[in-house]
Amino acid sequence: MSKTLYILNGPNLNRLGTREPEVYGTATLADIEADCAKLVQAKGVALKFCQTNAEGELVSQVQEAADKACAVILNAGAYTHTSIALHDALRLMEVPVIELHLSNPAARESFRSTNYVAPAATASICGFGAMGYEMAVTAALHLAKI
Ligand code: DQA
Repeated sequence: MSKTLYILNGPNLNRLGTREPEVYGTATLADIEADCAKLVQAKGVALKFCQTNAEGELVSQVQEAADKACAVILNAGAYTHTSIALHDALRLMEVPVIELHLSNPAARESFRSTNYVAPAATASICGFGAMGYEMAVTAALHLAKI
């Protein structure tokens, strides 16, 4: 069985740290990656951590994860609320998929209540800020029985 955890990040998450810190906190994506890498390494698992602003690239990363990952954590950013292509790609997954958001989209603008990721995910973690990534790593490895 593959021992690589994929953590995929969608649009604008490369701007964490300075992007609406009152909503998303002050940790950068590099800070978050470093924290996740430590947790994953301690379990003897490899980490593939990616960010893209492009919808098609995110779909390709999900397809790669479908072939190679033991579990996937996905913060799809705004594509969560718009992308049927992403939903269809997630339907390919046979391993656990954790949907992740720093904020709690359900408590924000009404356009964020449309969600194409959650129906194709195993579980969701929302509203814990950067700590949600650590929670998601623990949860994903648990679901992958690692
Ligand atoms: C987000 C929530 C989305 O609604 C938003 O478009 C993002 C970030 C989050 O992590 O809270 O870009 O996914």
